[in-house]
Amino acid sequence: MLTRRELLGVGAAAGAGLALSPRVRPVRASPGPAAFSVPLPLPPVLRPVRRGATTDFYELTTRRASVELLPGRRTAVWGYQGAFPGPTIEAVRGRRVVVRHRNRLPFAVNTHLHGAHVAAEHDGHPRDLIGPGEHRDYVFDNDQPAATLWYHDHTHHRTSRHLYMGLAGLYLLHDPAERALGLPSGPFDLPLILQDRSFTASGALRYQPDRFSVLGEVVLVNGRPQPFVAVGARRYRLRLVNASNSRAYRLRLSGGRPLTQIASDGGLLARPHRVTELILWPAERADVVVDFAGLAAGTQVVLENADAAGAAGRLLRFDVTGPAPDPSRVPERLAEIPSLRAALPAGAAAVVHTSRLGLDVVAQQWEINGRPFDSRRVDARVRRGRPEVWRLVNRDRMTHPMHFHNHPFQVLDRNGRPPPPRERGWKDTVAVGPRETVRIVVRFDRYLGRYVYHCHSLPHEDHAMMAQLEVVA
Ligand code: C2O
Ligand code: CU
Ligand code: CU
Repeated sequence: MLTRRELLGVGAAAGAGLALSPRVRPVRASPGPAAFSVPLPLPPVLRPVRRGATTDFYELTTRRASVELLPGRRTAVWGYQGAFPGPTIEAVRGRRVVVRHRNRLPFAVNTHLHGAHVAAEHDGHPRDLIGPGEHRDYVFDNDQPAATLWYHDHTHHRTSRHLYMGLAGLYLLHDPAERALGLPSGPFDLPLILQDRSFTASGALRYQPDRFSVLGEVVLVNGRPQPFVAVGARRYRLRLVNASNSRAYRLRLSGGRPLTQIASDGGLLARPHRVTELILWPAERADVVVDFAGLAAGTQVVLENADAAGAAGRLLRFDVTGPAPDPSRVPERLAEIPSLRAALPAGAAAVVHTSRLGLDVVAQQWEINGRPFDSRRVDARVRRGRPEVWRLVNRDRMTHPMHFHNHPFQVLDRNGRPPPPRERGWKDTVAVGPRETVRIVVRFDRYLGRYVYHCHSLPHEDHAMMAQLEVVA
């Protein structure tokens, strides 16, 4: 058996107190295609099958399909509507969405809407599966601010493989308050789903996980390797979504061009925040505005991952086509974010849950508080409507992006220090680096019942770095 050190093989902390684990494996040249030879696709927007007075009804079928990911090759995938990534659902705050998920795959799957405030029975709990040939209706109330959410399978022990094969898509929640801001919208609002994959010589997806990570040599953006996209010399909103199984990205633009972050997982930040680089752990999202104004036609700007060499470090090329009118704005105040810290009872009166993250070397299993996931066990009870603190303590050498279902949270502090600006809005996934302690506050409103929380590095989640909380009245 390998030693713990060999198994983890992770580098020390890099920048901002975070270690980008797992460390990048040597990257091979991407198989076949020349860089930036395919146009960036946008996932198709799913049409409702019916619109009621208060509710939009959708149908999503999971099935096998053969699609073109690498240029000129066919790849067998498991997809929502047979697409990789799945179609995008566009929802509006306050208007309910019902998704009928029909499963035409020969095994059980389900759907979880990541980042959504949702009733427990519609949350895609890992024990609530849809068998082959069956269907299930998911009800999403959309009672939360505009945000870049995503849906994916959540089958226990199989989530990593299922997502790798394609079972994920976007769910964009809009609201009038966000629309009124005048941010770049419509064709100037581009979702960018980042997923790394490995392929066999014949173009099949090659899934080779261990308990620590699954890393691909090719980074797909909306399902294509190193695509290009034509842009006008104006502002664009980019919705950066890390839908990779294990890989973290240190994103930047070539030439050090600035990115203005306007939103994180759970929606708009209070104010825009200018950066030159942005780290995204699995399941994290960041919406940024990039301004190409002033760039001459023919200028090329590359979205890079500073943490990878070669093709895997050059993700997407923007080709500036020429001047373009730009009525968009990025206001200095984006959203009111009520402080959960201020809502906490003073001092020792606050309820604190502690989750210790670690590895059982003998069992080769990831754990929270020394236990692997067991859906029959409730690990923590929380009071509905009461803000409570969670201390996430990482004794380990790997970073664990910890995700809570049911309600976005706020980061209270990171190793006792205030969180960086990018973590000052609503989050649903937070990276806890080696030896770090992150405290978050969350208030679970409205729904009662059992929800999971877990590491979103998918091999960790599957083996079995997940626990269960119950919201009680
Ligand atoms: Cu992205 Cu438990 O989910
Ligand atoms: Cu989730
Ligand atoms: Cu983990």
